[in-house]
Amino acid sequence: MSIGLKAMTRTHYCADLNSRDCGAEITVMGWVQSRRDLGGLIFIDVRDRSGIAQAVFDPESQPGAHMVAHTLKPEYCIAVYGRLAMRPGNMRNPGMKTGDVELVAEHIEIFNESQTPPFVVEDGVEAGDVLKLKYRYLDLRTRGLMSRILLRHRASVSARTYLNKNGFVDIETPVLTKSTPEGARDYLVPSRVFPGRAYALPQSPQLFKQLLMISGFDRYYQIVKCFRDEDLRADRQPEFTQIDMELSFVDMDTIMDISEGLIHTLFDEVIGVRLPRPFARMTYEEAMDVYGTDRPDTRFAMQLRDVSDLVVPSEFKVFSSVLSSGGVVKAFNVKDKSTFSRKDLDGFSAFVSELGAKGVMWARKTDEGWKSPVAKFLSKEQIRNISQRLEMSCGDLALFVADTVDTANAALSALRLHVAERLDLIPHKTFSALWVTTFPLLKWSEEDKRYTSVHHPFTAPFPADLDLLEKAPQQVMSQAYDMVINGSEVGGGSMRIHTPDVQERVFNAIGLDEDAAQTKFGFLLEALKYGAPPHGGIAFGLDRLIMLLTGASSIRDVIAFPKTASATCLMTDAPSNVTDKQLDELGIKRK
Ligand code: AMO
Ligand code: AMP
Repeated sequence: MSIGLKAMTRTHYCADLNSRDCGAEITVMGWVQSRRDLGGLIFIDVRDRSGIAQAVFDPESQPGAHMVAHTLKPEYCIAVYGRLAMRPGNMRNPGMKTGDVELVAEHIEIFNESQTPPFVVEDGVEAGDVLKLKYRYLDLRTRGLMSRILLRHRASVSARTYLNKNGFVDIETPVLTKSTPEGARDYLVPSRVFPGRAYALPQSPQLFKQLLMISGFDRYYQIVKCFRDEDLRADRQPEFTQIDMELSFVDMDTIMDISEGLIHTLFDEVIGVRLPRPFARMTYEEAMDVYGTDRPDTRFAMQLRDVSDLVVPSEFKVFSSVLSSGGVVKAFNVKDKSTFSRKDLDGFSAFVSELGAKGVMWARKTDEGWKSPVAKFLSKEQIRNISQRLEMSCGDLALFVADTVDTANAALSALRLHVAERLDLIPHKTFSALWVTTFPLLKWSEEDKRYTSVHHPFTAPFPADLDLLEKAPQQVMSQAYDMVINGSEVGGGSMRIHTPDVQERVFNAIGLDEDAAQTKFGFLLEALKYGAPPHGGIAFGLDRLIMLLTGASSIRDVIAFPKTASATCLMTDAPSNVTDKQLDELGIKRK
């Protein structure tokens, strides 16, 4: 059945219908969420991107429309024309935005029928990730996914508006570019014209944005795809999006202030949360000492304490041997009173073993002293001192790990989160934002037997530390900063090296000799010789920000078409096989 032109023009999104429009002629367009056939009346829930509205079909007054409604099945794509009416009092649904009204249908048009979908298109339906990713376009029709993608749009708009207002210029940078070492693994695109040569997809626009500063654009931004071939996790995708920024003629504090403004605006405009400013600051050293990680979740306490000095001398071999080989004993106070059983406590050792640690020691303070396997090896005074440092009151539980500093930190920071989750200590809908600053410029890589950059090799050291670059590289601190919210690294950046001599010295420090530096980064070294301004910048992980703004626990839930943990797309089947002819053109032979 065909309906008139006027009726075929959409007047409202479903969720916008409300009692003020009662009596008005209305057309909605969307998909059939459900059909309830009550013998007489038929109720259809119509869904579009805004939400759901109910249409009612009466066999008496509109027999034609009613007959068509009878044939509707879930996911049919339709238009419904009619007049809006209040629902009878007993039919109102306060749990639904449009629950007070219904569209009394006069006409219906079926644009397209739908096969029975492979899963019911509704939030919370169990269908398995594989099926849902294969039919992603159907899953995207659900309220949860749809609203997260719409929120992502609002966040992008908010970020762009803030940056535009602050004098930033949006400039695109190449996607086919040069492979640069010193990052994750590159995605390569073989060249047809030059067999054996390849472009790389950018891991970030880092060098291009620095070159734009040298060109004089002064403030740059881009909301840009970045590509990294690395192991994927709940907050990592092979292609992800950065809000990328770079500024000239500013110091670190100015960049941090403008960045805070951006994130503050985003949280305020998108979810109405006002993050207190200025954000807290913590040095890298302090973060590692107190939280065992450079992305501390500061929504809850349970801070780590080093008790190495208090456990010697001790007959407890685990502690004494770790300490004599230069390790540490660190601990935190759970303050749980009595939640954890003996079995739980033993389970913690298995938990940390996955992080390379050898075990967890526990101690519970009671009226009669410590209950702990280690108690018999420690003096009363030692126990008193440790209890004091860990601020243990009666009933409290302390957990200890003895190991190298790195392993103890890795184990305890993960255990701290694990325990907090089990005890439900992490406040929901709370946001704790902070900066981590003053990172070491370089770290020793056992694997490569050389120093590597903690951030990237274009990060500027503090000028006062420059003298140490050749003498004591590990002591050089960098003008780098990470923004952390609720334990997630949402952004990172730094002041950059802007003179060729310092850049060459840093390349040298990471084992790139002059020739290698020329081959890999010659264009940057050359550009730095033409009046490069002092500059710095930052990049935010947009996907991670959206995870925080929406409360999503997987990065896949905030990306329209995400990849699986093995970097495949189940909908398109990428990566796919290519033909011998294609490979031949590229000068590539199958192995
Ligand atoms: P960095 O490598 O720290 O810095 O990246 C910046 C931010 O991007 C996000 N991020 C990711 N998000 C999802 N999946 C991934 N695989 C992924 N990798 C990184 C994080 C991170 O904080 N060019 C520099 C920035 C600069 O110095 O200006 C850079 O890319 O939230
Ligand atoms: P073991 O002597 O190996 O049987 O360990 C005795 C207790 O010490 C067990 O409860 C272990 O979980 C714990 N433990 C072992 N290694 C460590 C370690 N490196 N740090 C803290 N506790 C440990």
